[in-house]
Amino acid sequence: MDRLIIQGGRKIAGKTRVHGAKNSILPVLAASLLNCSREEIVLKDVPDLHDVRSMLNILTCLGATVRYAERDIILRTDRVDRCEVPEHLMREMRSSIFLMGPLLGRLGRVRLCRPGGCAIGPRPVNLHLRGLQSLGAAIEEKEGGLIEARGLLRGGEVLLDYPSVGATENLMMAAVTALGRTVIRNAAREPEIVDLQNFLNLMGARISGAGTSTITVEPSGRELGGGCYRVFPDRIVAGTYLVAAAITQGDLTLEEVCPEHMTSLLQVLEQAGVEVETGPRRVRVRGGQLKAVPLVSIEPYPGFPTDLQPPLMTLLALCPGESRVLEKVFQQRFKHVPQLNKMGARIRVSGQEALIAGVESLEGAVVEATDLRAGAALVLAGLAARGETVVTQIKHIDRGYENLHLVLNGLGARISRVAEDISGGEAEGASRRVTAAASPGEALP
Ligand code: UD1
Repeated sequence: MDRLIIQGGRKIAGKTRVHGAKNSILPVLAASLLNCSREEIVLKDVPDLHDVRSMLNILTCLGATVRYAERDIILRTDRVDRCEVPEHLMREMRSSIFLMGPLLGRLGRVRLCRPGGCAIGPRPVNLHLRGLQSLGAAIEEKEGGLIEARGLLRGGEVLLDYPSVGATENLMMAAVTALGRTVIRNAAREPEIVDLQNFLNLMGARISGAGTSTITVEPSGRELGGGCYRVFPDRIVAGTYLVAAAITQGDLTLEEVCPEHMTSLLQVLEQAGVEVETGPRRVRVRGGQLKAVPLVSIEPYPGFPTDLQPPLMTLLALCPGESRVLEKVFQQRFKHVPQLNKMGARIRVSGQEALIAGVESLEGAVVEATDLRAGAALVLAGLAARGETVVTQIKHIDRGYENLHLVLNGLGARISRVAEDISGGEAEGASRRVTAAASPGEALP
């Protein structure tokens, strides 16, 4: 129940890097279950995130062994023999559904329940299930959200009604074990899909087409093995830092990032009056005279990413004029709006659309992080606001940002992380100030 206390009005400036992508490392960890050999899988520079720990707990529970070498993780999965994922672990996060494809493929049977995740609207798994059925799985849905799948997978044609990221990844992992060729059409094109393809091919799979809407998985003809892999830098974390610089009139350079994964964000930042400069593996953003952006449409990649919609709303809240955001990916992803309005923003939501009347400044307030990216948006608002902002429920932020407050403090912010006192009372007064460093300059998380 920690909270962040932010003293607003300080510029975000300097240089930093970002950690590996959460949305890549989670499917990559699930895919490691496809390695039946005694060879090790070494994952380099794995971010210390709550969701990563949850996935490692599940792998251990299934029979994998996990070792840590500083920021690397070394996995042995040859002894994995359990096909049932305990309910309390499944409900920890949405990504636990990724286990379905690899477990079914490896063991011919899997039993799990519907996963948990952010409260951003209904998150059905029908596309995952239908796709696996097209590959030959027999699936039974039982009371209490329990799902059981079994069968020997054969290749096939799968046409997704919607380019779901998770369904595409689940199907790629299942298809690797199938007897014939699989073609996934209308596949998601996110960079994280390319990351998963690269990792599976390193293990010995034969997948092509990731990054386009048609992915082909050929039978590998041999058992998959181990290898050493590093996932892409996290484009959502990168985008969050860039918005932090933009709204504080700062000057931030991100090093060792992939600007080509952030094209839609960088275009919108430029439209909003922010100076953007890109180079090989680097992006620099300098705050300018902000202005409204008439319309931003939130869509699957290469469109503007839904995970950066909440941070974008914070930026647009401070852009003079009227901006409009159309959220086309999730049905209820505006829970940060009442919180931003509490800080003085003027945002009106109607269905999937938000109308933002830009204001000159935001005011510090006590606000609640209702989900992961909503939490990030509120931290950004706190950086730009006058006075003190308290963000509660930051366990959500810990799911996807490693030491967000420390990185921002290294870039000039003043944020303290405060633990609730043991008696469960209010944090102020009897609280333990965990960090209050505010040293501008370079921060390498
Ligand atoms: C992944 C990301 C998440 C991101 C999202 C969209 C991970 C761990 N998470 O989530 O951060 O916000 O992509 O870019 O990678 N849908 C169905 N049926 C299904 C599956 C999805 O109707 O079987 C719908 C969802 O309700 C949602 C939309 O499709 O409205 C997008 O979901 P999807 O692309 O599957 O997102 P996730 O893989 O859950």
